[in-house]
Amino acid sequence: MASVLRAIVLAAGKGTRMNSARPKVLHEAAGRPLLHYVLDVCAEVEAAVVVVVGHQADSVRESCAQRLGLTFAVQEPQLGTGHAVQVGLHAIAEEPDGPVLVLAGDVPLLRASTLRALCSLLQTSGGAAALVSFKATSPGSYGRVIRGSDGHVTGIVEAKDATREQLRIDEVNASLYVFDGHKLRSTIQNLRSDNAQGEFYLTDVIGMLVAKSERVEALIIEDPVEAAGVNTTQELAAVERQIHARRTDRLLAGGVLLERPDTILIGPQVQVAAGARIRAFTILEGGTRIDSGASVGPYCRVENSEIAAGATILDSCLIRDSRVGPRATIGPFAHVRPESVVEEGAKVGNFVELKKTRLGAGSKAPHLSYLGDATIGAKANIGAGTITCNYDGVVKSPTTIEDGAFVGSNSILVAPVTIGRGAYIAAGSVITKDVPADALGVGRARQENKPGWASRRSKKRQEPSGT
Ligand code: UD1
Ligand code: CA
Repeated sequence: MASVLRAIVLAAGKGTRMNSARPKVLHEAAGRPLLHYVLDVCAEVEAAVVVVVGHQADSVRESCAQRLGLTFAVQEPQLGTGHAVQVGLHAIAEEPDGPVLVLAGDVPLLRASTLRALCSLLQTSGGAAALVSFKATSPGSYGRVIRGSDGHVTGIVEAKDATREQLRIDEVNASLYVFDGHKLRSTIQNLRSDNAQGEFYLTDVIGMLVAKSERVEALIIEDPVEAAGVNTTQELAAVERQIHARRTDRLLAGGVLLERPDTILIGPQVQVAAGARIRAFTILEGGTRIDSGASVGPYCRVENSEIAAGATILDSCLIRDSRVGPRATIGPFAHVRPESVVEEGAKVGNFVELKKTRLGAGSKAPHLSYLGDATIGAKANIGAGTITCNYDGVVKSPTTIEDGAFVGSNSILVAPVTIGRGAYIAAGSVITKDVPADALGVGRARQENKPGWASRRSKKRQEPSGT
């Protein structure tokens, strides 16, 4: 029987270099905590996971509430990465007889394929450990991988403990390992903290294993980006950019058309069908779905909304928690607020705001309107400047506009009110009573023209005043 793959994910550190009260692994990249990316990869390789928590343990644990099958181990105080693994091993009740992955929780770009390659390297080499390394252009604070004259890994030296010569080594430790469970357990208990930081370094286990004539392999990865650990807010921003780039690359490969993909942000839950077109500087978030042939952007934000096939969202629109039907058009500069539905072929034009409103198939609200709590039938026309007065300061009331109604420009519809099927509203009306089907509703002062008024007025002005 194949032994289970276990993973210990290190997430107890404070993340001092982030200058933030929030624990480092809970900082978000592309809308998700860093730790979750690592946990996703563990799930992909089907590892049984122990998360080592410490700094703000409760909030880290809480952020994982939706994830099943995790075990938590509390490291208190945090005495270093080696100590964290000791604590993690403690939580694995029975002797781990198989491989144990040890992963830093701050490496969100990690790929499952790398962990698989790492595990098979351990297996084929028959070694005690295998670690991920990469060639860094500026090795900075990374631990340096030390190799003997025969090229085999002999240890890792932390930058703060390294000699000047060792600092010149460009192969660095990514903090991603797989160990033989037994050998890890028997070696790690002998760790000491007599180093520059007074910590128990996990990295020292490598040298200790080699000293016991065990073999350690390093998997040098081609794409160092994958191993990037987040220690500063600058690194967080860089990693986030990579996450978005990976996302847009996958969509492009799947036949989605993206204009200036480097300016487009698409969340992890968003679905975009092949043949949809996303234009520059557009943000798609939450559970948004964009169907084939739809076009969104430029400069739009769509959150938790469905944009059906062939719909067009023009420049600078905000759409949230709503549905836009097939071949409908929105914008430019429209605001579609939650619980709105724009049905097939309907049009919402510039400077129009919808809230909890259904605009029926083929209906149009082309300019400058507020439509709130309204149900509008098919093929209605809502003239420029129409406003539903849905709120009297206490309660919200509904407006119903039936099929084929024509609401003239600058009309005020005081809710609750119903405009019947095919009815007309004269421009500039204030409508406070229902308008029956087929009727004309006029609610404005009648216009009066006074012939000759203007010249009479100017004559009056020329007469001497106050005699
Ligand atoms: C570590 C490695 C270094 C490697 C680098 C790669 C050690 C001693 N050094 O350094 O060789 O090049 O990662 O990014 O391992 N953590 C705990 N408990 C602790 C300390 C840390 O759980 O007591 C966790 C942190 O939350 C973090 C991870 O371990 O997720 C790594 O810790 P960090 O402080 O970032 O290590 P580095 O100094 O970057
Ligand atoms: Ca780190």
